Parts: sequence; C-alpha cells; structure tokens
Amino acid sequence: MEITNRHILITGANRGIGKAFAKMCAQDKAHLYLSVRKTDPELVSELQTLGAKSVTVYEADLSSKKGVMALVADLNEAPIDILFNNAGQLTGGLLEEQPLDDIYQMMQVNVNALIHLTQAILPGMLKRKRGKIINNSSVTAFMHFPAASTYAASKAAVVAFTNCLQAELKTTPVTTLLLVTPGIKTRMFDEIENLYSKNFIIPMESITPAKYAEMIREAILHDLEVLEPTGLTGVGLKIAKFVKPLFDLEVSRRFKR
Ligand SMILES: NC(=O)c1ccc[n+]([C@@H]2O[C@H](COP(=O)([O-])OP(=O)(O)OC[C@H]3O[C@@H](n4cnc5c(N)ncnc54)[C@H](OP(=O)(O)O)[C@@H]3O)[C@@H](O)[C@H]2O)c1
Repeated sequence: MEITNRHILITGANRGIGKAFAKMCAQDKAHLYLSVRKTDPELVSELQTLGAKSVTVYEADLSSKKGVMALVADLNEAPIDILFNNAGQLTGGLLEEQPLDDIYQMMQVNVNALIHLTQAILPGMLKRKRGKIINNSSVTAFMHFPAASTYAASKAAVVAFTNCLQAELKTTPVTTLLLVTPGIKTRMFDEIENLYSKNFIIPMESITPAKYAEMIREAILHDLEVLEPTGLTGVGLKIAKFVKPLFDLEVSRRFKR
C-alpha cells in the first residue's frame, strides 16, 4: 500500500516508535491522525513542516474501555486507511513481584485497546475496500524470557489476534502487518534494564526508532504480512522458534532468582 495521501491513525504517536513513524509518514505526505495522551504542539508543527497533508490530534487514554470508546467517538468515522496499533506499556520482574494493577493496565493498553480499536476501524475499511492494520508485537512473543511473563503474554496475544484476523481478511482488500519488534532505542527500551536486570541478563541489541520506521515503511510499501528482525536478534528469534532446547539453555545461563 502507498503511504502518500493515505489517512493514517497512530496510537502512542508522541514518542518512540510512534513518533518516528509519524515523521516518516509526514515526509511521505500522508494525512495523520495522532492518538496521544497529551497534545504536543511542537510535534504537530514539526509534522506539518515535514510535509504532512493534515494533522489531527486526539487526546485519549487507552488504559480503560471508556478511553478507547471516547477515541472511537472522536474519530467520528474518519476514513482511516492505515491503523498503526502502537501504544504499549512494559511490565517486568518476577511474577510475584509485579504490581497487579500494572499488569491489568498493561493488558488493557497492549491487548484490549488494540482489539477494540481494530474492531471499530475495520468496518469502514471493508466498506471503502482499502485498509491495512499494523499491530506492534515484540520478539518476546516468541523469545520467552523469565521476568517478561506478563509483557510477553500480551505480545503473544497480539500475534495470535493478528494471525487470526489475517486469515479472516484473506478474501478482502484489507491486509494486516505484524511487527515482531526487536530492541528499539526508546524510553521503553531504557525501562527494560530497570525491570529485568535484577534477575536476567537481557541481550541489549537495539536500533533507532527512525531506522525502524524506515523498515516499517518498506514493509507497508511491499505489503509484507510480517516484519521480523535481522541481526543477532533475528538469529535469537529463529533459535527460540526452531531450536527451543538451545534457547532455554542460554536463558537459564542468564537467569538468577
Ligand atoms: N522499544 C522496544 O525495544 C520495543 C520492543 C518490542 C516492542 N515494542 C513495542 O513498541 C510499541 C511502542 O513502544 P516504544 O518503544 O516506542 O515505547 P515508548 O517510547 O515508551 O512509547 C510508548 C507509547 O505508548 C503510549 N501509551 C502508553 N500508555 C498509554 C495509555 N494508557 N494510553 C495511550 N497511550 C499510551 C505512550 O504515551 P505516553 O507518552 O502518554 O505515555 C507512548 O506514546 C509498544 O507497543 C511496545 O510494546 C517496543
């Protein structure tokens, strides 16, 4: 699918991967719909300067069903061509040490909000006979590290949801793109160290959000269904998927309780 002139909704557009993706889409002259918790006027003018055809901002907190419903109402059936379900939260640490409220909130943002928004936007895409749903999962959906139990579960849910949806949409003009996202140098990436390092030596390979936005761009233009990492993380992902005993051995070497 083209990006130029397309109407693109991005959740979590104010920083990290979402912001880098918004800037890339602006350079490609798209219409941008940003879902953020707090409007950043500087970002809006930066996107306009970069070339966005239009920028519409929605303030929405996705950590409750009510928050997602309010966003859907505000969107007022905007003709979204590309939905980038990107907003996400990180949880980590030994399960018994993770605050339950954090787990509930993370599951709501990472899974429920993504499903809710997709269900709300999809009928319009089917009616217009055009659309792409991009879901931001993670390598942890397949690389099952200790200390990542709840976050990994949320990202595995995103994989399952996207794959089922892809099969449902096979005979329609609407497509999906699953991002099996590796380490990207964002605020979330920096939080990994705090949350995980007490128990687990996590591999810390990363790329910049701008570089990742460029990879997503290529995946959109070529209508890929999955974007997986290359490099060392790509090798680790393949080992986790296809040589599990080897992956588990390395994991136990890096883990301490
Ligand atoms: N960075 C990585 O290494 C990595 C790896 C795998 C997958 N991912 C996934 O990539 C996505 C983007 O993460 P990032 O790395 O760009 O992290 P980030 O810089 O921490 O950005 C997270 C984004 O999610 C938004 N968000 C969090 N809670 C929200 C809520 N309740 N309502 C609305 N928006 C909320 C944040 O908005 P606020 O500024 O308002 O908090 C922010 O825009 C996430 O889904 C993450 O799980 C990242």
